[in-house]
Amino acid sequence: MKHTKVIEVLQSDKLLQPVLVKGWVRSFRNDRFIAVNDGSTINNIQCVLEDNTIDAAIQSRINVGAAVAIEGTLIESQGKGQRVEIQVSNVEIEGDADPEELKLTILSPKRHTLEKLREQAHLRVRTNTFGAIMRVRSKLSFAIHEYFQKNDFYYVHTPVITKSDAEGAGEAFKVTNLDLNNIPKNENGEVDYKEDFFGGETNLTVSGQLEAETYAMGLGQVYTFGPTFRAENSNTSRHLAEFWMVEPEVAFCDLDGNMDLAEDFIKYVIQFVLDNCQDDLEFLENRLVQEDKQKPQAERAEMLLRDKLKFILENNFKRVSYTEAIDILKNSKPNKKKKFKFPIDGWGADLQSEHERFLVEKHFKCPVILFDYPADIKSFYMRLNEDGKTVRAMDILFPGIGEIVGGSQREERLDVLKEKMAALNIPEEELWWYLDTRRFGTCTHSGFGLGFERLVLFVTGMGNIRDVIPYPRTPLNAEF
Ligand code: 4AD
Ligand code: MG
Repeated sequence: MKHTKVIEVLQSDKLLQPVLVKGWVRSFRNDRFIAVNDGSTINNIQCVLEDNTIDAAIQSRINVGAAVAIEGTLIESQGKGQRVEIQVSNVEIEGDADPEELKLTILSPKRHTLEKLREQAHLRVRTNTFGAIMRVRSKLSFAIHEYFQKNDFYYVHTPVITKSDAEGAGEAFKVTNLDLNNIPKNENGEVDYKEDFFGGETNLTVSGQLEAETYAMGLGQVYTFGPTFRAENSNTSRHLAEFWMVEPEVAFCDLDGNMDLAEDFIKYVIQFVLDNCQDDLEFLENRLVQEDKQKPQAERAEMLLRDKLKFILENNFKRVSYTEAIDILKNSKPNKKKKFKFPIDGWGADLQSEHERFLVEKHFKCPVILFDYPADIKSFYMRLNEDGKTVRAMDILFPGIGEIVGGSQREERLDVLKEKMAALNIPEEELWWYLDTRRFGTCTHSGFGLGFERLVLFVTGMGNIRDVIPYPRTPLNAEF
């Protein structure tokens, strides 16, 4: 007999018929009730053992964590909490789990902190919380592809290894095959990268944007969705050294069009998980309610998780220029009472996450798109405004998250772009291919990058970015 996924069994109306399920034991109560989970849903199937149906030797091996194959008859449940259950006729143990050894792991049936779970990231997906997060994460990535494919974007696989540092922030991880114990040097005593695998200095990509731009210049509308790497030493709950980024790029599209696209896209994927991840969202929502009970009233969430997601769908993102935002911040209570760690005293400062969160959570109380930032605090490729001091940049700020999207209208004018690069000491030789797009049929174009894990954080209501990616990479941590 072929086994049936638990999610199907739970919805099945084939009562009194034989059924086979395979999964891992979550609990075994009163020598009678085995709860089995196979990852297809947050819910377990209850399998009920009558006395003497199976061998005592097998029964003694039905331990939490064991992999089992259970055959029986699907019946209407006698108890509360489930519609159907399996009346067991046979149990096979595929993989034992020794209870004494299991006690030392996070699979032992007691509450473990999220920090503890991170130490055993290879096992945590077998907990309810991580099962739910990873199913939502998977659905979200599908929704991203679906959105762009439905809207006639082409998926472009941009390279992971590159000679360019797209953000020009110098936060790229080096890639080398040189023998580090015997580094070849040139006559100036510098490392001779000509000897290296690619014949030049290379790094892991910080963004697929520049390559995506070149493809938008032929395919019209493209997106990349892949891993990106940043060697920034920020140990925060919002930063990873390896994270996934979604980057659409659109020819003949200005900043307003870019904002419209970003807003429409985010709403689509949130609607998708609301429609397709109901059980997992309900579980995550209840988890937050329980967590909030431990907190003082003032720190508790104002909205339930799913209400927060619906709120995003039902409200327009507030579009505010950087200059307006600075005025609001300058005159805000926390600024006047010197509550900001970085006080706002004038135009030109980069916004810190405390400022972004004030704008989103306290002032506007909805997602905010900030645009027209000072040129000096943004990347070289953003289009210079007529004022000569701001660029057509936009950041989308989300409640509880801060920046979730960064994007811009690109500088399409060759002379302006070259001036900007010169001012920032970015050698033209390094980006000759990028400059070519401005030489041959340049046009207005725009794009943005959405940090995928920040989106997953928002949708699952989790508090730390390390808990929404299977194997987080952060400073001093690349285990697994
Ligand atoms: O704002 P960023 O640096 O923009 C770019 O990389 C552009 N090239 C994107 C584009 O226009 N195509 O990064 C984009 C987003 C941020 O808004 C944030 O959500 C996320 O990527 N991000 C990170 N997420 C996790 N860990 C990090 N270290 C991140 N750095 C950026
Ligand atoms: Mg940014």
